[in-house]
Amino acid sequence: MVHAHMTTWFLALILFFVALGLHKSGKEKGFKVLKMILRVLYILILATGLGLIFSLTTISFLYIVKVAVGLWVIAMIEMILGRTAKGAPTKGLWIQFIIALLLVLYLGFSLPLGTDLF
Ligand code: HEM
Repeated sequence: MVHAHMTTWFLALILFFVALGLHKSGKEKGFKVLKMILRVLYILILATGLGLIFSLTTISFLYIVKVAVGLWVIAMIEMILGRTAKGAPTKGLWIQFIIALLLVLYLGFSLPLGTDLF
C-alpha cells in the first residue's frame, strides 16, 4: 500500500508540471485532459492514504496532520491549475504548495510505515 501511495502522488506531481507546461505552450486540450486525469489520481492518493491509515491499530496525532497536509497539497495543485486556466495570480498558492509539499514529504518519511528517513 505504501508503494501504491508513493506511485500515485509521484505521478500526480509529474502530471501537474506537465499540465502547466502544456498550458504555457497553448495546448489547452491536453491541459484539460491532464486536469481530468489528475482528479482521478487525487482519489487514488486519498484511497491509498486511507488504506494506510486503516492498516494501523492506533492512529497518532501526527497521522491526522499527515492526512490534513496531504489534502492541502492536493487542494493547492487543483487551485493552481484552476487559477492558471483563468489567468489569475497564483503566487500565494505556490508558496502554500511548497510549504505543504515539504511538510507532507517530511511527515510521510518520518512516520513509521514504509521508508523511515527522518
Ligand atoms: C500529494 C499528496 C501527498 C503526498 C506528496 C504524500 C506523500 C507521502 C510520503 C512521502 C509518504 C511516505 C512513504 C514511505 O514511508 O515510504 C506517505 C505516507 C503516507 N501517506 Fe501520504 N502523501 C500525500 C497525500 C496523502 C493523503 C491525502 C493521505 C490520507 C488520506 C495520506 C496518508 C498517508 C499515510 C497514512 C502514510 C503512511 C505514513 C507512514 O509512513 O507511517 N497521504 N505519503
